[in-house]
This record gives sequence, C-alpha cells and structure tokens, in this order.
Amino acid sequence: MSFEQLTENARRVYAARFGGAPRWLAAAPGRVNLIGEHTDYNGGFVFPMAIERYTVIAAAPGGTPGRAALYSEIFDRTSEFSLLEKEPPAEKVDWESYVGGTIACALEKGLRPEPFRGVILSDVPLGGGLSSSASLEVAVATLVEAASGRQIDPVEKALLCQKAEHEYAFMPCGIMDQFISAMGEEGRAMLLDCRSFERQSVPLDNPNVVVLVINSNVKHTLSGSEYPERRSDCARAAELLGVELLRDADSEALAAARGTIEAEPNGGRIFRRARHFLTEEERTARFAEALRRGDYAAAGREMYAGHASLKEDYEVTCPETDLLVELAAQLGLENGIYGARMTGGGFGGSVVVLADREKAPAAAARIAAEYEAKTGIKPSWFVTRPAAGARLIEE
Ligand code: GLA
Repeated sequence: MSFEQLTENARRVYAARFGGAPRWLAAAPGRVNLIGEHTDYNGGFVFPMAIERYTVIAAAPGGTPGRAALYSEIFDRTSEFSLLEKEPPAEKVDWESYVGGTIACALEKGLRPEPFRGVILSDVPLGGGLSSSASLEVAVATLVEAASGRQIDPVEKALLCQKAEHEYAFMPCGIMDQFISAMGEEGRAMLLDCRSFERQSVPLDNPNVVVLVINSNVKHTLSGSEYPERRSDCARAAELLGVELLRDADSEALAAARGTIEAEPNGGRIFRRARHFLTEEERTARFAEALRRGDYAAAGREMYAGHASLKEDYEVTCPETDLLVELAAQLGLENGIYGARMTGGGFGGSVVVLADREKAPAAAARIAAEYEAKTGIKPSWFVTRPAAGARLIEE
C-alpha cells in the first residue's frame, strides 16, 4: 500500500466513524536497522533507516472535554485517554499502552492538547521486528503536538516516546526505533551515535540497489525476559571492565579481562555478549565506510558477519531467521544479493537484505519459496527505500 492510499483510507475510516473530514493526519514510519544491533543501550552506533510503512492517525478536535478518543482499525476498538492528568500504566500491555503512555509522557513534558477524536491505521506489520510500536508512539506524539499547537524538539520527542515504552509497555528499549521514526530522511540511512546522539546522514539512493525486508512471520519471545537479560549481561560486562557503558571499553581491554570475566557466574556468556558489542561496533564502522564508497559487496560481508555474531555470541537469532540469511547467502552475488542479517531485537521477526534492484524480486521469491518448503511458514517480503520520518499533514 502506498502512503497516499493509507492516508486516504484513514480519511475514509475517520469519516465513517466520526463524520466529516479530519483536521490532522499524523504519520510515523517503521524502520529496519542495517547494522549495529543491540548496541544502542550500550551507547554504541546504530545504522537504521525508516521504511515506507507507516502508522497514520487521522484526527480532529472534538469529543469529551479533557479526553482523547482513538479508534484502532487493527483491533477494531475505541479507547479514551485523559488529556488532563498522567494516567498510570495498565498491567496488561495492549495497543492502548503505547497510545496512553505517549499521551501521559507528553502531558508530563508540558504539552496541553485540546480534546480530539481520531482513527489509527497502520501497515507496519505487528511483531515483525520493524518497530510497529515506535511508529505508533511517534505518530501519537506528532498528533499531540498538533492538538497542543506546539512542537517539541525531535530528540526530546524520541526520548518521550522511549519513556512511554519503558513505563507503559515495560520494554527497556534503547533509543534507536523512536529516533529513526521521528527523524528519518528520504533516501538516507542514519548513522547514530547513541551516546552523544550525534548523527550522520548517509545517502542510500543508488537506483540500482534496494533494501529488501523479509519477515519470517515467527515470533519467539515467550517470556519477554530475553531483551532485559541481554541488557543486564552488558551492564555486568561494563561493570567488570570498570566502565560506565560498554562503549567506553575496547577489544584489548576485553581480551585482558577475559579470565576475570569468565571466572564470574555466567562469565562465559557475559564475555560473549561484550564481544558481540565490540565487534559489532567495528562492523558498523566498516559497513558505513563501504556504503559511502558504493562497495555493496563489502557492506554485505559485514552484514553476514553481524548475523553470525548475533547468532553465536548474542544468541538472539532463531532457526527461521538463520535459514532466511542462509538462503540469501546461497543465492549470493550472482543472483544480486550483497548481504543479509536479522534486524531489530531478534527471536524471529525480519531479516534485512541488501540487493540489486533488478534481481531482488526473483531472489526474494526463491528465498520465500525455499523457506516455506523447509518450515511450512509463508514469509512476507517487500522492497523499500529509506523514507522520511514523522510528519503532520494539516487539512
Ligand atoms: C529493539 C529495541 C532497540 C534496539 C534493538 C536491537 O528494536 O527497541 O532499542 O535495542 O531492539 O538493536
């Protein structure tokens, strides 16, 4: 679906539920991360781009004083949220947690929205590792800005949405997803230093190269504890290395401390987590360099190596994403595949593939067919260009 179709649908759903036309269309994209995985919360580098998949909210002033009413098309349910006081989180995490959490954190930041009603539509696949939740948060924050007649600094906006995710969805995420959804640029990926928030915008606009996203359509997060466990392993590694963040350590320091770390309870695992981080930092730098030179084969090699490290040292891949990457690698350069790796938090979700534009569709179809034959699961795939971040259309 194109952005225009999605916004047109949002207008139509708004008219059907509330009558008339919306005043605002707030949109925010999902993302893929090209490389730099599980590095943001360690103060490292990430390299995401926004994708041409969005959450869109069509809304207008009105409804109950002091309240927002939002209808989710996906869940076919309307919920109300206070615009006067910070509501506490619900125990069970639902779409309302992201919406209510973002509104609550925006109120806390001093935004004072007038009452509004709206409808939420999205074509970012849920649970596909493409940041459907960050796109929802950033779309809500963009709408609340409009309804308040006040814009906040985009970095503040990303932080506000991250806070909503921490406090209302109980997910101790890093900053990458909200940051790129708020600040993505068309035709460009973002090399972001998650310690200083300094960012470099790197063109990814060669007409012969595309980013292919293949969703394994599996989700293995059973308890939800995997992500926080990785974070605390990294925090422990930093502590043992005597630094605040793993970003402040280097490979020599890790090699020197290996014995001490491995003598700890779970030390082998903690060592491997830190090794993933430090090698991923190097891969990310080399990947960015290769992209700038237009050496896509070299960039692709870093992607494969990154996947291997996420599999062996970080243990966040799964048989399905491993298989997708393996199938992509088997097709290789002669079939237009430069490189592939899992993207996002892991345990299922999507893989990102750097590919030749002409050859990508045939390669994707072959990967999809073989994946389905081996797993019995139908994957979904699409090709995307780097998209612009959050936007507001006033009607
Ligand atoms: C999730 C989190 C991000 C980041 C990635 C892994 O998407 O929301 O902050 O940590 O996992 O790179």
